[in-house]
Amino acid sequence: MDEGVYYPLLKNYSYFMPTRIVFGVNSISRLKEELKPFAFKQALLLTGRTVCHTEACAAVRETLSSLGKSVEFTSISPEPDVSLLANLSEEVRRNPPDIVVGLGGGSTMDMAKVASLVAANEKEPLKYFKGEPVARKGPPIVTIPTISGTGSEVTPISILVEKTAKLALRHHALYPSLAIIDPTLSVTAPPTATASAGMDALCHAVESIMSVDSNPITSSLAFEAIDLVDECLEKAYCNGSDIEARNGLALASALAGMAFANAGLCIAHGIAYTYAMRCGLPHGTSVSVAEPYAVEFNAPAIPEKMKIIAAGLGIDTEGLTSSEAGEAAAMRMLDITGTLGLPMSLEDLELGEEDLEPMVDDLLKNYNRFIVKNPRKPSREDLLFLYRNMLEGY
Ligand SMILES: [Fe+2]
Repeated sequence: MDEGVYYPLLKNYSYFMPTRIVFGVNSISRLKEELKPFAFKQALLLTGRTVCHTEACAAVRETLSSLGKSVEFTSISPEPDVSLLANLSEEVRRNPPDIVVGLGGGSTMDMAKVASLVAANEKEPLKYFKGEPVARKGPPIVTIPTISGTGSEVTPISILVEKTAKLALRHHALYPSLAIIDPTLSVTAPPTATASAGMDALCHAVESIMSVDSNPITSSLAFEAIDLVDECLEKAYCNGSDIEARNGLALASALAGMAFANAGLCIAHGIAYTYAMRCGLPHGTSVSVAEPYAVEFNAPAIPEKMKIIAAGLGIDTEGLTSSEAGEAAAMRMLDITGTLGLPMSLEDLELGEEDLEPMVDDLLKNYNRFIVKNPRKPSREDLLFLYRNMLEGY
């Protein structure tokens, strides 16, 4: 960076983060000690169909059983939907837990938060995703990520799919009480999953800085996260057992989560939601297609922030205009997605010109929550222009 302090030092703001984080290689071995203070009688362990057969899951299962009763719900799948939510609620009502542990990826941790909510609030859970006020905080939530990127381990947010729309529930009661972040649990994650989740962390960090609600705390966290992903993602993709790179990504995921839980996300996440389900894309992959174009679009509106983002991506910004810094940042992101073998344009997703207007309409109708955080307010024409850029790619 070529000039003084970027942060608006006279800005007033708040920051909240109640989750205890236990981080590092083999930190899973501390689970028993960390769980004892909760003095639970009935635990609910949430996992997916693959994770439930792993050694890590066996260890968590054993630890829970040594401290109290424990039941397991192993049916969490990516993009949890309304029917999964109904099954999970039934399980929670059958055996009301006084602690909920989510071991897995973002979907599993998201559903652990919902299970806690259901345990303390009697209405049909879908209603809470549609604005019903949450009356009570549920039992403590423990998150143990097995892949790095979603940030769900430290956020108070849960995502649910209803038909083709993604609903978000955000409430302070959904903050995990404890996150055990052990990078060794992600070593067996396949390269494609590593790539998608890692890009999600990068996008969370970039959008946290761009957000109109960023502050010096969230931007500091996000800058470190960008730097870590820039350094570690390609390494972890090429060599899954590179434990240093896995550590870097695990930290980036948490830092970016701590940033966006307070700053919010902006337009690229909203854009991604307009084609992710239809194209069957993992979440991070869908956002990474949109992010470089969103960064370039926003650059003129946020000159100082754009230089921070570019610097995090290893770019020397001296003498660059904000648009040049934005373009350089976009190019570096595309460079990373190229290395990871991810799609880089809407044409790569087999979308065409005829799809653009319906996607713009969908974005404006269903995902305004991201547009309000975006630093440059887009008109419908701006959005069509942005989508058209994404269609052809660079
Ligand atoms: Fe995301």
